[in-house]
Amino acid sequence: MRILSGIQPSGKLHIGNYFGMMRPALELAQQGEAFYFIADYHSLTSISNPDELRSNVLDVALDFLACGLNPDKTVFYRQSDVPQVTELTWILANVTPVPMLENAHSYKEKIAQGLKPNAGLFTYPVLMAADILIVQGARVPVGKDQKQHVEMTRDIAGAFNRQFGEVFTIPDAVIRPEVATLPGIDGRKMSKSYNNTLEIFGDEKATKKKVMSVVTDSQPVEAPKVDLDKNIPLQMYRLVAAREKANELQAKLAAGGYGYGEAKKELLAALTDYFAPFRKKREELVKNLDYVNGILRKGAERANAVADETMAKVRKAVGLR
Ligand code: TRP
Repeated sequence: MRILSGIQPSGKLHIGNYFGMMRPALELAQQGEAFYFIADYHSLTSISNPDELRSNVLDVALDFLACGLNPDKTVFYRQSDVPQVTELTWILANVTPVPMLENAHSYKEKIAQGLKPNAGLFTYPVLMAADILIVQGARVPVGKDQKQHVEMTRDIAGAFNRQFGEVFTIPDAVIRPEVATLPGIDGRKMSKSYNNTLEIFGDEKATKKKVMSVVTDSQPVEAPKVDLDKNIPLQMYRLVAAREKANELQAKLAAGGYGYGEAKKELLAALTDYFAPFRKKREELVKNLDYVNGILRKGAERANAVADETMAKVRKAVGLR
């Protein structure tokens, strides 16, 4: 079984990326041959500064490796090292209905946020379909926000297969319901564009400030807290603390006389502990960039071999060869 996922190098990774996509992807990687890549072509839809793009790509590579990606078992590469995906994007565009792209939530959302609707943004889902289909990725671990994109990939692959013969494996999204929507510090979905994230490798002081500002309701310290299933510090704590510890914290809040400030301090400590080994690993990797670049090069070689195989079939199927 092949497994594939991509992550945009759009800045420092946050714990929403980690629990929503990276950790499930790293776990799933045990079950087959995993292809995980840095989606730098996709980031051209949002980043126009070349130095920023270059440094973000390196950051994501370091973050992913620090968080436990095993480069001996996983094919880890940069999307633009497999330029065949852009050729496949063009071919797939010819079986992609425009109304489907017009209906994409993420496109509509980005336009609503004020991004200019250029053709790159509009055809973003076709490029994503090409990423997936070029390695014949059967399983695609993603956050819930990418579900519709994977469904579009299935539709595009189906349309291609019907028209040109069975070339593509229809992929399945793998979404973890329990972490599908991690709230950010303001209670909306954690997202870089809302500026409400907790970074995985953030500066300690800044992280502390952010954790202490996580929104809660305004029940006073003395009150036995109710509605704890909606409590964001507790929800975050559940991700980074052992189950018993999380149950203890919940009991303390429910008992009353224990305030959200205290709970947030516990959250900060647990968060720091959880990511401490990754932070250490990252510091080592930063000193060894040749090693990191070597991993990406090796990943690109394997991904290219697979992409060439798929493209030979695709070109033949459509009549380009
Ligand atoms: N669109 C994804 C995101 O923003 C990143 C991505 C690009 C991706 N290509 C992919 C994810 C292919 C899974 C499979 O998170």
